[in-house]
Amino acid sequence: MTALVIDGLRKTFGGVKAVRDLSFTIEPGSVTGLMGPNGAGKSTVLDLVCGVTKPDAGSISIFGEDTAGLRADQVTRLGVARTYQVIRLTTGLTAVQQVITGCYLQRETSLLASILQMPWARQRRREIEDIAMYLLDRVGMADRADILAEAMSYGEQRRVEIARALGSNPMLLLLDEPTAGMNVQEADRIGTLIQALRDDGLSILLVEHSMRMVADYCDHAVVMNFGAKITEGPPADCLDDEKVQDAYFGRQRDADSQ
Ligand SMILES: Nc1ncnc2c1ncn2[C@@H]1O[C@H](COP(=O)(O)OP(=O)(O)O)[C@@H](O)[C@H]1O
Ligand SMILES: [Mg+2]
Repeated sequence: MTALVIDGLRKTFGGVKAVRDLSFTIEPGSVTGLMGPNGAGKSTVLDLVCGVTKPDAGSISIFGEDTAGLRADQVTRLGVARTYQVIRLTTGLTAVQQVITGCYLQRETSLLASILQMPWARQRRREIEDIAMYLLDRVGMADRADILAEAMSYGEQRRVEIARALGSNPMLLLLDEPTAGMNVQEADRIGTLIQALRDDGLSILLVEHSMRMVADYCDHAVVMNFGAKITEGPPADCLDDEKVQDAYFGRQRDADSQ
């Protein structure tokens, strides 16, 4: 079954057409790179897919379920998790505590009951701690479980965010520029992790500004500019496409030629 089908999606903010008649699909167990210059509408697409923002028109189907009109928490329960362009870890919580909060998004035991140490919640809490430690290990952070968010390097914060997103046990993972501002080594570490998660069966929508990341780590690319899709296909073909080159470097080239 197709992991994600977006069809005729449209979203306007005031006069800004952030997403214009956008359609694409994500095959299960693949990494799709959603590329485009700043302001192209990439983050808005993630907001629409995870139910934070309602579309003006168009449909979204996640593993065969029509999610139009669902709230964000209902979309989470269908198996969708995301990270944000700007890191949203909680100050004062350790790495393992961050991931535990992610685990509670999907599970029946309420966080409050657990914090209050209700006896029936204690066993569940231990299970969730084990899952959180497993997920930290998955992102290469097991030895940093007790480090506070504010003491982590930027790359570490990004990896903990991914572990927290995995806490809700998603089938579709949406990542918003997880390597922005990273050096090549840190970015490659994230790329390798993304491919490992894909190999475990996750379907991934990776919003990326970097052409190199899309070329090196994505199975399929969709390129947006001014809210609309300008091309899609194998990453190498997209990067060679003149329309994509123009979207990324057009303004620069025009300026250079003056
Ligand atoms: N909540 C909002 N209110 C008004 N305008 C918005 C909002 N969110 C995004 N936009 C506008 O929509 C366009 C696309 O933004 P965004 O999806 O963040 O692009 P990208 O992630 O590709 O950089 C931009 O022009 C942006 O200013
Ligand atoms: Mg963005």
